Amino acid sequence: PIFAAEATVIYAGDLVDVESGRVLNDRVIVIEDGLITGIGSRATLDDMDVPADAKLIDLSDMTVLPGLSDSHVHLTSDASVHGYKRLQVSTSAAAITGVVNAEKTLMAGFTTVRNLGAPGFADIALMDAIDKGAVPGPNMIPAGRSIGITGGHCDNNLLPYEYEAKSGGVADGPWAVRAKVRENNKYGAKVIKFCGTGGVLSKGTKIGAQQFSFEEMKAIVDEAHLLGLKVAVHAHGAEGIETAIRAGVDSVEHASLISDEGLRMAKRNGTYLSMDIYVSDYILSEGEAAGILEESLAKERTVGKAQRERFQAATKAGVNLAFGSDAGVYPHGQNGRQFAYMVDWGLTPMKAIQAATIGNAKLFDIDKTHGSITVGKQADIIAVDTNPIEDVSALEDVDFVMKSGVVYKQD
Ligand code: ARG
Repeated sequence: PIFAAEATVIYAGDLVDVESGRVLNDRVIVIEDGLITGIGSRATLDDMDVPADAKLIDLSDMTVLPGLSDSHVHLTSDASVHGYKRLQVSTSAAAITGVVNAEKTLMAGFTTVRNLGAPGFADIALMDAIDKGAVPGPNMIPAGRSIGITGGHCDNNLLPYEYEAKSGGVADGPWAVRAKVRENNKYGAKVIKFCGTGGVLSKGTKIGAQQFSFEEMKAIVDEAHLLGLKVAVHAHGAEGIETAIRAGVDSVEHASLISDEGLRMAKRNGTYLSMDIYVSDYILSEGEAAGILEESLAKERTVGKAQRERFQAATKAGVNLAFGSDAGVYPHGQNGRQFAYMVDWGLTPMKAIQAATIGNAKLFDIDKTHGSITVGKQADIIAVDTNPIEDVSALEDVDFVMKSGVVYKQD
């Protein structure tokens, strides 16, 4: 690999301990072979097992945190290309866009992302290239093709009938959707994404209308779970959300119009809500220039604020909250802008940071190896020069990034 991990000792001025929810002072972190092998204090450094060749990184005037994660991105999408402009983008071009955006995402401090849908398995190829060390990027959990009904949010509805345009993940009926799950798994997907309601950015779909019957959703979830894959559903409308939770999904993406009953169901089942409450600002200010259809802008005007209010209700209900941004709809590398919104709408900075670290790691089922600065876990570590517990917007400008013991950024 071109990115090799060295034995390292980090001096951390403040360290955000997301497991205990506390900030610790003057910590020392020892890293070997990409893993955290020791944590102590400057006073106990002499008693710690530090490799002789370890290099010192002094972050004693910074706040150190675990690498951030985002449960909902589309690395292969370009935020300045929406609507009919997207018809010009080949899968090969999307893959190259993904390489560029993977680096931006990592440099913004996001060391793990779930990529919830890409054309032609471009996201699987990207994950493989990153894992080999051929290109810089976050640890990826890719979905491959998003599964959806004919004419639904996960289909391509832009062209008239004679073009026979159809997205790769379209299937109707319980066995057909099971087959899609199996195909995604065959070609390397690590999570299953399906569309359970209409969406904002798709032509001719209604946000409030459920897509897939309960039987189809149940078939997707059961098949994915048999294969050991988690399921993320795109859903805005209350009924689609409730039906998907009943079918056993692991996370609801957007969850914009979730009902009180939906919140109760999510709480009871431990379902995560991955609410992208920043992106509305981008869609309504930059969307038109990027090619977003007028009908989509009209839908966004009905959903953006309502979603923030439902996010606030979710914080009060104590539901599991993921950090998911839908970056790709808006520019990659700006994922961190959502933190300030999550704090404005009901979370403490610590809770917002926990959602983007240990919380997401639990949803992704990688919390034994990722999500906190803990001995035995991957050395995914970032630092900022302003304490994010006092001003969470500090996470919009990350100064230091290490992934699996390799330093990618040091300002
Ligand atoms: N991809 C989503 C959709 O098209 C974006 C929704 C963005 N809006 C929002 N308020 N979260 O439905």
